[in-house]
Amino acid sequence: MMFFSRKKFLGVILISGLLLAALLYSWSLQCSSAVYISHRRPSEIKNILERVAEHHDYHDIAYHVKEDVASLLVQNSCVCEANKDAIQLPGMDLLFPQVWAFDIASAFLQSQNKPESVKQRRAEEYSSFQRRLHSPADELIVAKANSPLQYPTQGVAVRPLKTIIIPGLELKEEPREKYVVSFNAALGTFDVAATVDKVLVEGEGQSHMTLTSSLLPALNRQLQFVTYTNTVFHPKTADTVCFATESHRSFFTIKIEHETVPKLHFSGHQKEYNISALVTIATKTFLRYDKLKDLIDSIRKFYPNVTMVIADDNEHPQPVRGPHIEQYIMPFGKGWFAGRNLAVSQVITKYVLWVDDDFIFTSNTKLEKMVDILEKTTLDLVSGAVREVTGYTTTYRHTMSVEDGGEEGNCLHIRQGYYHAIEGFPNCVVADAAINFFMASTEKVRQVGFDPRLARRGHFEFFIDALGSLHVGSCTDIIVNHASKIIIPWNKKDSQKAYEKFRYSTSKNDNSINPELFYFKYRFKCMTSP
Ligand SMILES: *[C@@H]1O[C@H](CO)[C@@H](O)[C@H](O)[C@H]1NC(C)=O
Ligand SMILES: *[C@@H]1O[C@H](CO)[C@@H](O)[C@H](O)[C@H]1NC(C)=O
Repeated sequence: MMFFSRKKFLGVILISGLLLAALLYSWSLQCSSAVYISHRRPSEIKNILERVAEHHDYHDIAYHVKEDVASLLVQNSCVCEANKDAIQLPGMDLLFPQVWAFDIASAFLQSQNKPESVKQRRAEEYSSFQRRLHSPADELIVAKANSPLQYPTQGVAVRPLKTIIIPGLELKEEPREKYVVSFNAALGTFDVAATVDKVLVEGEGQSHMTLTSSLLPALNRQLQFVTYTNTVFHPKTADTVCFATESHRSFFTIKIEHETVPKLHFSGHQKEYNISALVTIATKTFLRYDKLKDLIDSIRKFYPNVTMVIADDNEHPQPVRGPHIEQYIMPFGKGWFAGRNLAVSQVITKYVLWVDDDFIFTSNTKLEKMVDILEKTTLDLVSGAVREVTGYTTTYRHTMSVEDGGEEGNCLHIRQGYYHAIEGFPNCVVADAAINFFMASTEKVRQVGFDPRLARRGHFEFFIDALGSLHVGSCTDIIVNHASKIIIPWNKKDSQKAYEKFRYSTSKNDNSINPELFYFKYRFKCMTSP
């Protein structure tokens, strides 16, 4: 009797202890989660606000800093810190994954003979990247107070070397003897498509044009016919036009760009989705033909006619035969992302479904659902869930943010979670990265590509490359099974052993991120991640 109640008592203590620890831990996470985006000291905040204030008049008027808001402001100084104040308890990282920080800059530069020259090389590459990225349309333009000039603030575009009428121009000036307005541009010329009596036009066909009149209505009539012609070819840029009177100046931008040529797909006439016409299944195989065969058999149960593209970089490739199967043999060991790239490059359908070669389709693997959400939303990629042998289902959703870090490079923050649910699709959310089982617009995935330098491992790199260009979703109700991953060692087949040796190489470098890629290609100095 005594024995049992004591055991119960101990059990209660143990459980409440664990609960308390969990509470404490989540509380500490909450406190520190406010820290990670911007860890600003009061003096930094003061600097930011002083820089804001110095551009303006009213120096003599005092202001009071609201620290909770001011600390959210972005400054070029992200710091490489994990949640270091979180409580460390054994086993807790299963419940609440630790956020760790990885100092990419030191990790990579320490391995270099000439770290300074690597830094300089990166800075040069970066400025050339920025030159290409730069558009005059991104520059800050401030409209001065009380301008009598009316003009379009955005939405004016011209095709390269073509002519448009500039919409919305007008002058609202106090009565005076003579009204004068002028135009200035850098990449084009002005003219008038029609003339109006009692208006003098000077500089027609040039990058500086003036209109003069003693009658305001006549001048405004003439302003309706002002044209802009792009004269300096560039496929995608913008011209900043200065529109001025004698005492006021205003600026607006005209976008110069080719029409975007669409890439549409004709996938038949049916009312219902024809998966074979819309989707190609792509995979990469290496040393796992038995698994691949199981995958193909499972796919054929549900989708007998869908095309499969298999990238194969085995040393001794075995033919994989069957209807609607394309096997592409690559040089031995070309690697994981190279194979994904090759497979995706051969797809001719509107969508591509990525699967690992050890997945198994079941009746829950409803590709129609993925097609439906891609067709009805602006998502470019939608991932599903993977069910492990243990029965545990995972979606691996993450959000990412890049924080400005000045000359040393930026900070990448990866966190578990998502942004918001998707209306009309109750099982789906929007995120930045998700699991390796996804359907995507073939065109968009090709634009992002898979960096073939990632030979052994790689996952987030694709989603980092896609950040800002792919709209990513994740659904829990499209499920693929993962063939046994945890295998009792004495049952392992030789091919499985060889595969693991290759993929999960024990060398430390192979198991962590590739510092060169993160330091140089992505220009990060730091990464924090769960
Ligand atoms: C579906 O598409 C495939 C491939 O384009 C085509 O061969 C097949 O006839 C289509 N099925 C139906 C029911 O239209
Ligand atoms: C698959 O293709 C065969 C032969 O073209 C056809 O008879 C069959 O209906 C197709 N199956 C499906 C599900 O589209």
